[in-house]
Amino acid sequence: MKPKVFIARPVPPAVEAYIAKYCDYKIWNRQERIPDAVLLEEAKSVDGLLVQNPPITREFLAQVPQVKIISNTSVGYDSFDVEAMKELRVIGTHTPFVLDETVADLVFALMLSAARRVPEMNEFVKQGKWTKDTKPEELFGVDVHHATLGIVGMGRIGEKIVRRAVHGFEMNVLFHATTPKPELEEKYGIRYSPLDELLEKSDFVVLIVPLTESTRRLLGEEQFRRMKPTAYLINAARGAVVDEQALIGALEAGEIAGAALDVFEQEPVDPENPLLRMEQVTAVPHIGSATAKTREAMVMKAAENLVAGVTGGIPENVMKELKE
Ligand code: DGY
Repeated sequence: MKPKVFIARPVPPAVEAYIAKYCDYKIWNRQERIPDAVLLEEAKSVDGLLVQNPPITREFLAQVPQVKIISNTSVGYDSFDVEAMKELRVIGTHTPFVLDETVADLVFALMLSAARRVPEMNEFVKQGKWTKDTKPEELFGVDVHHATLGIVGMGRIGEKIVRRAVHGFEMNVLFHATTPKPELEEKYGIRYSPLDELLEKSDFVVLIVPLTESTRRLLGEEQFRRMKPTAYLINAARGAVVDEQALIGALEAGEIAGAALDVFEQEPVDPENPLLRMEQVTAVPHIGSATAKTREAMVMKAAENLVAGVTGGIPENVMKELKE
């Protein structure tokens, strides 16, 4: 008898065919997010789930004790209670590696957009404001090349950002991470820095850390005050790594020059969020990994992890807290 799984999001036909080869399955084929209550009901009769960042709580897990694996289609898994999964011996997997270059591309898109005011200039031209009387300095931005880049978080994506920064833009790179990275310092000529120093010296501060209890609200009022008034914040991590009210305050007070944000405390972001009314803020809807090729690779990876987990194999991408 094949194992039973529930696929809690639409997937490409090739992924569905792959899962069908090994499992009996049901699928949530609607574009809107699956309601938590529906996911719970479906989870009660299967061995494994393929999901996209639902809240996986201790209460949820307690009601589906037969579930062996929950395969998440995302590199981040901050909506999962990994402690409870560990205790209850549920395998959790995610999709690292396949999205690293794509997210690093978006970080540069955000950095360049903020520095050269691309979204603002786009509106300027389209609204017919570019006239013979436009003063050249009205269009000035700041340079990215040769600037100082501070990267908070130096995992797989951090390294891809470094490669672009050093080889492409000849930037001076500082990084802050929980473990030393002597091999990267050597390879790229970058330097570890305490967080305060990184904030004080950087022209661009990029956040690319997972959201955990130690990174929640890592940047608040005090940290923004340390940044240069000419500096930009780029957040491609999770919204809650930043105290959003403090960010609004820092932007209003001119403590920093601007921000480019892929992520928000609440997603989708509330249209009334003051950040969206600020010219010096570039906002995109959590599209770090959103290219067709990468998203397909992520779903296929999640399917492979799921199949391995329900067929007695060892999934390739077990969440690090859950590795034996
Ligand atoms: C992830 O997979 O966690 C990224 O945020 C996607 O953009």
